[in-house]
Amino acid sequence: MAKGKTTAFFCQECGYEASKWLGQCPACKAWNSMVEEPTVSLKSEAGKRQRELTAPSRLSEIAIEQEERVYTGLGELDRVLGGGIVPGSLILVGGDPGIGKSTLLLQICRTLADGRKVIYISGEESLKQIKLRADRLGKFPEGLLLLCETNLEAIEAVIEKEKPDIAVIDSIQTMYREDVASAPGSVSQVRESTTSLMRIAKGKGISVFIVGHVTKEGVVAGPRVLEHMVDTVLYFEGDRYAAYRILRAVKNRFGSTNEIGVFEMRENGLVEVKNPSEYMLNGKPQGASGSVVTCSMEGSRPILLEVQALVCRTNFGMPRRTAAGTDYNRVNLLMAVLEKRAGFHLSDCDAYVNIAGGMKMNEPSLDLGIVMALVSSYQDRALEEDAIMFGEVGLSGEIRGVSMTEQRIQEAKKLGFKKCILPKVSLDGLAGIGGISLIGVASVKEAIALL
Ligand code: TYD
Ligand code: MG
Repeated sequence: MAKGKTTAFFCQECGYEASKWLGQCPACKAWNSMVEEPTVSLKSEAGKRQRELTAPSRLSEIAIEQEERVYTGLGELDRVLGGGIVPGSLILVGGDPGIGKSTLLLQICRTLADGRKVIYISGEESLKQIKLRADRLGKFPEGLLLLCETNLEAIEAVIEKEKPDIAVIDSIQTMYREDVASAPGSVSQVRESTTSLMRIAKGKGISVFIVGHVTKEGVVAGPRVLEHMVDTVLYFEGDRYAAYRILRAVKNRFGSTNEIGVFEMRENGLVEVKNPSEYMLNGKPQGASGSVVTCSMEGSRPILLEVQALVCRTNFGMPRRTAAGTDYNRVNLLMAVLEKRAGFHLSDCDAYVNIAGGMKMNEPSLDLGIVMALVSSYQDRALEEDAIMFGEVGLSGEIRGVSMTEQRIQEAKKLGFKKCILPKVSLDGLAGIGGISLIGVASVKEAIALL
C-alpha cells in the first residue's frame, strides 16, 4: 500500500485486502465483493500498550491452576464447549436468522446470572422485546443486566464499570467503533469490534459470547478473520421448519470439535434432547419398504437414524436422482456399485434418498444403509423392523470396517434393536456383546441375500 494512503479495498466475503478495486476477489473468487474502506492505523493505543507488556516467559515458570469451567445449565451446550465455559474465552455463535441464537444465549443467561454478574448486550432488539422473550422462557434471576447499545466504546465503558463475569454481544454485525469510518457489518468494523472484545475478554477474564450472522453460503458474515480471532466457533443449525436444532463446534481451543448438541425449539424456549436417536426414529413407518435404520457417529455419540429411499421407473429419458440430508454424489456412486456388483438395473430408475428428520449426515458408515434402502424399495420388500445396519461400501462392492463399532451396537441395543448387520471385518472382539445378534457381511451381495 502506498505510504499515506488511508483506504484500501476489502473483500466483503473473505476479508482479502487489495490496494485497488478488483472485479473478482483473488482469494475467494467472489465477484463484485470489493468495497473501499479506511485502513486502521497500527499506531493505536492498543499497539503501544501491548509493546510495554511484551516479555517472554519460561515454559516451566508458567503455573496453571486447575482450569475452572463455568456450567451453562444446558448440558448439551457444555458438551460442545468441551465441558463448560472457560473464563476469559471468546465464543462466536453463528447461524441462520431465526434459528434461535438469541434464545439460546438468553436462556443460558438465566442460569449463569444466578450467583454471577452477567450482561446481555443487544444491538438488535429493544429492552421491551428482550423482556418479552425472557417472559416466554420463564423466570429470570433479578441480577441479569440488559443493555441496548451498538457503540463499542460505550459498551467498553459499561463493562469497565460493571465488571461482569460473562457478557453476551448480540450481534457483532450491528456493533461499530467510531474510529473506524465504515458502516456497521463491514469487514473493518467487524474485525475491529472483535479485536476490542478480545481485549476485554483476555484482559479482564470475562467470557464473551458473540452472535454472528451467517451468509447465504453458510459462513459467518464478514471476514474469515473473525473465526481466527475467537477461541471457539459454534454453529447453530437445523431446518427452520423442523423443531430440532444442532449445535456444532467448528473450532474449539478448549475441547473437541466433534461433539454436537441437540436441542428442540419449543413454545417456551430450547429444550435439550438427551437421546437424539429416539428423537430421530420417532415416526418411522412400520413395515414400509425403502426404510432402513442405520447409525452415524457424531463425535463420541452414536445417533441412530432412518434412511429412506424411493426407487421407481423413469417415465422420461433422464432418470432423476436426489439426495436430501446426505451427499448426492455418494448416492450416485452407491447406485453404480449396485448396478455393476450386484446386478441391479437402476439406470432406468428414478431414485430419491432422504435422511428422515432433516439431519445432515455424511459419514461413510451410512453407505450400507443407503444401499439396502435402495434395494428394499426397488424390490418393494420391507426389512425387519428390529434390525439396524451400518458399514462403508467400497467400489468393488466390498463392505469395509468402520470405527467405534461397539458404541454403535450398544446404542442399537439400548433402543431395543435385536439384530445388527455390520462389516465382517469389524466382528473381531465383539463376542462379549450379548442380547443382540450380530451378522457380519463382506460384500453388498451378501447383505442383499439377507433381505
Ligand atoms: P431467535 O433466537 O430470535 O433467532 P436468532 O437470534 O438466531 O435470529 O429465534 C427466533 C425463533 O424462535 C422464532 O422463529 C420464534 C422461535 N421461538 C420459539 O419457538 N419459542 C420460544 O420460546 C422463543 C423465544 C422463540
Ligand atoms: Mg437474534
